[in-house]
Amino acid sequence: MSKTALVIGASRGLGLGLVEQLSDAGWQVIASVRDPQHATGLKAVPGVRIEALDVTDAAGIEALAERLAGMQLDLLHINAGIAGPKNKPASQASRDEIGELFATNAVAPIRLAERLLPLVNPNSGVIAFMSSIMGSVESGPGMGMALYGASKAALNHLTRSFAAELGETGISVLSLHPGWVRTDMGGDEAPLDVATSCKGLVEQVTQAAGQGGHRFIDYQGDRLPW
Ligand SMILES: NC(=O)c1ccc[n+]([C@@H]2O[C@H](COP(=O)([O-])OP(=O)(O)OC[C@H]3O[C@@H](n4cnc5c(N)ncnc54)[C@H](OP(=O)(O)O)[C@@H]3O)[C@@H](O)[C@H]2O)c1
Repeated sequence: MSKTALVIGASRGLGLGLVEQLSDAGWQVIASVRDPQHATGLKAVPGVRIEALDVTDAAGIEALAERLAGMQLDLLHINAGIAGPKNKPASQASRDEIGELFATNAVAPIRLAERLLPLVNPNSGVIAFMSSIMGSVESGPGMGMALYGASKAALNHLTRSFAAELGETGISVLSLHPGWVRTDMGGDEAPLDVATSCKGLVEQVTQAAGQGGHRFIDYQGDRLPW
């Protein structure tokens, strides 16, 4: 029987790449986007069920959970994220910019994971969060985009708390660094293409099934320092 994945934030970039790779590998895929009208790339992938969700909308998360009630997910992959005010140091970003960055990158993924947890296969399900090496407190500083890195460090911290509270379970939790990838966010200079990163990410989530625990790894499976 084919496995079922829910990919959150799949209109373009790595989210769309994940849907393509999972679909190619025979997974049943449900994919969420903010605006289904503008999900041309996603609509081109056959057999994908498309759902609407802005991850910062708590009522939208509730509505999605209700629409998916009764399903069992082998993979919940929370990919949606924003770069925030890229060229501004913390002291120059506005309160709204900071609020949107941390709400989208750090808080929304955990709120989603908590709400959708009952749908995740308790024996071998995988919950994957799209983090970044920039969120590593040890390695991130000096890479630039300090506020963005802080939002991913906050995500990592919240994910560790989430994983700790799972208790005895067969669910595996991954904090993933996709590499530096050519997307709208990653820019043209990035060394990796979407397909290479996503192929590696799908290998990691597939291998994680049944292992349990929580790891911070990159798309090749190498462990990263917290
Ligand atoms: N590219 C890299 O080098 C790199 C490196 C490390 C980590 N990452 C992480 O990987 C993830 C994907 O990055 P990407 O490079 O593919 O970025 P991207 O090309 O900018 O795509 C971002 C995706 O997130 C969605 N999104 C943003 N805010 C959302 C919201 N409030 N609700 C729902 N969806 C939302 C976007 O949807 P819309 O089309 O509606 O805007 C889009 O599908 C992010 O979490 C990013 O931080 C990327």
